[in-house]
Parts: sequence; structure tokens; C-alpha cells
Amino acid sequence: MDPKYVIFLGPPGSGKGTQAKRLVQETGIPHVSTGDLFRAMKVMDTPLARRIQDVMNRGEYVSDEITIEVLKERISRQDVREQGAILDGFPRTVPQAEALDQLLAESSLQLSAVLFFDITEDEAVRRISGRRSCPECGRIYHVEFDPPEVVETCDADGVALVQRGDDYPDVVRERYQVYLAKTSVLVDYYREKDVLIDIDAMRDPDRIAEDVAQVIAQE
Ligand code: AP5
Repeated sequence: MDPKYVIFLGPPGSGKGTQAKRLVQETGIPHVSTGDLFRAMKVMDTPLARRIQDVMNRGEYVSDEITIEVLKERISRQDVREQGAILDGFPRTVPQAEALDQLLAESSLQLSAVLFFDITEDEAVRRISGRRSCPECGRIYHVEFDPPEVVETCDADGVALVQRGDDYPDVVRERYQVYLAKTSVLVDYYREKDVLIDIDAMRDPDRIAEDVAQVIAQE
């Protein structure tokens, strides 16, 4: 099968990570989240890694230059070259989108689809302030909408769940504003290329997953 490159685009908390993890289980296509890649750099404790954590904790974007380098390195690996990628949270700016166009063109590859998950700012705050995740396996929970069986503990490996440093309501509102200012323009960018598919992300995660699976099967 040819590698598939699919972008998950949408504001913070719109369910990109939740749906990407489900799709990985169904299809085996690698999940490439620039947010996860940056969070994984935390353990490196270098000046660059500390600068990135500071930027993220303020709800701002990491520079295009660094982001594109990190993405380039990840998609050059064998799993992505063979199977493609579910790009979650990349691109987030026009220069990033243009860099991705160029990277794909250099390998004679094309985007399969861009799935646009949209939610309101209030819904983003509601979802993100209740988010918890497993530091071991990365599974995402919500204290109200998708709680673990044992409070604050991962169902899969029994590890204590954690809350992200950028998941506090004032930071989420800042992230949403940054999204509107820098990323929402990509909706038109991809609509004009005729690859954008709107997903109603205000619904139940199971209904959304059905739509996502259907779209991917058709690509
Ligand atoms: P990143 O990690 O990409 O965060 P984000 O895009 O802000 O998205 P989130 O992870 O917050 O939300 P999500 O859409 O994945 O929702 P989730 O499925 O978890 O980026 C973090 C930071 O890294 C950025 O702010 C920036 O600093 C930096 N960065 C990353 N990429 C960058 C780039 N390309 N350029 C520059 N900087 C970059 O769901 C949220 C919650 O809602 C969960 O609790 C979940 O259980 C619940 N939920 C999910 N779906 C539903 C549903 N349908 N109904 C009810 N609850 C639901």
C-alpha cells in the first residue's frame, strides 16, 4: 500500500490526539504529533529543550524553523517512509504548510486528506481543563467525558495520570487565540487545494471516529 499522509487540523482540545490514537490502532499508520515530540524533549534538559517548554507553557508556538527541523527528522524515519503519517498539530502556520508541500513534492508524494476538527473556545476550555494522560502509554482521558476506571490511574498500565503544564484555563484561552491568529488561515489554504474535509468535532468521540475511519478508507 502507498504511504498515506493525513493532516489533523483544528483548535486545541478538538480531539485530534484522541482520534489519531484510535486511527493508529485501526490502520497502523504512524502518529506524528509535534506537540508530543516537543514534550518528549523535556527529559533532555538542554537550553533548547528548556526554551521550548517555556514557549509551550505560555501557550505560544515554537518557531517555524525548529518545528520544521523536528518534523523533517521524524518523517525521514523508515516507518513513515513506508506507511505515511497522521500529522497531528502540524502544520500550524503557512510557512510550515509550504515546507510540508515541498517535502512531499521532493519525494513525489501527495497529501491524502486534511481533516478539520472544529470546536468553540468554551468547549476547548471545558475539554482541556479535564484532560489527563498517561505518562507511560500516552492514552488520553477526561475526568468527566472519558474517565479511567480507577480515579487518576491509567487503565492500561496502572500508572498515575498527569495534567499537562499548558492545560490550565488561562493558557488554553491563549492557545485558542494563537490558533485563530496563526493556524485558522490553513482551513482556506487546504480548502483551495480541494483536500479539506470538515468533521463535526462537537459530537461524541465514537461518532467522530466512524466519520474519520470512513474518510480514510476512501482515500
Ligand atoms: P499540541 O500537543 O499539538 O496541542 P494542541 O494542538 O493544542 O492540541 P491538544 O493536544 O491540546 O488537543 P487535541 O485536539 O489533541 O485534543 P485531545 O484529543 O487531547 O501542542 C502543544 C503545544 O506544542 C502548542 O501550544 C505549541 O506550543 C507546541 N507546538 C506543537 N506543534 C506545533 C507546531 N506545529 N508549531 C508550533 N508549535 C507547536 O482532547 C482533549 C480532551 O477532550 C481530552 O481530555 C479528551 O478525552 C476530550 N475529548 C476528545 N474528544 C472529545 C469529544 N468528542 N467529546 C468530549 N470530550 C472529548
